[in-house]
Amino acid sequence: MAGVAGALVAIFFAATLSLGLAVVAVAAGGEIASFCTVWFDDVTRTGYFEPVATVPEHQRRGLGKAVLWEGFKKLQRMGCTRVFATAYDPPADALYGSVMSSYVLAETWLKEL
Ligand SMILES: CC(C)(COP(=O)(O)OP(=O)(O)OC[C@H]1O[C@@H](n2cnc3c(N)ncnc32)[C@H](O)[C@@H]1OP(=O)(O)O)[C@@H](O)C(=O)NCCC(=O)NCCS
Repeated sequence: MAGVAGALVAIFFAATLSLGLAVVAVAAGGEIASFCTVWFDDVTRTGYFEPVATVPEHQRRGLGKAVLWEGFKKLQRMGCTRVFATAYDPPADALYGSVMSSYVLAETWLKEL
């Protein structure tokens, strides 16, 4: 798998090995169609989704929402009380906007080198 989706899948497996908190939607052919890695801090009871991706040919079928809902369930079982996710483009904003309850504006500093 090439491009952004391939890079995200690589991050997904690295993070999953150390945490074991992941949700995967598998297509009928056996390939990964959509996934999210779920991070959880049990001190603040805060969860975070990163990365989240649906392979392009499987997008717009509700798989992104489905993996996030499964992630919410996993987090709730661990005592999580709030979940964050960060989006940088319209499809990701649409996904998170469809399942999360509020938008929190974050300001990020940048130095161009
Ligand atoms: C963002 C992404 C994960 C969405 O996955 P998806 O499986 O297509 O999402 P879904 O089919 O579950 O759609 C969820 C909602 O987002 C909307 N949506 C998804 N893609 C959209 C797009 N390109 N433009 C407008 N709305 C979009 C859907 O209409 C749906 O809204 P609704 O429930 O109100 O009808 C996918 O586009 C992707 O992998 N993008 C690249 C990686 C990325 O940006 N990840 C997120 C940040 S880590």
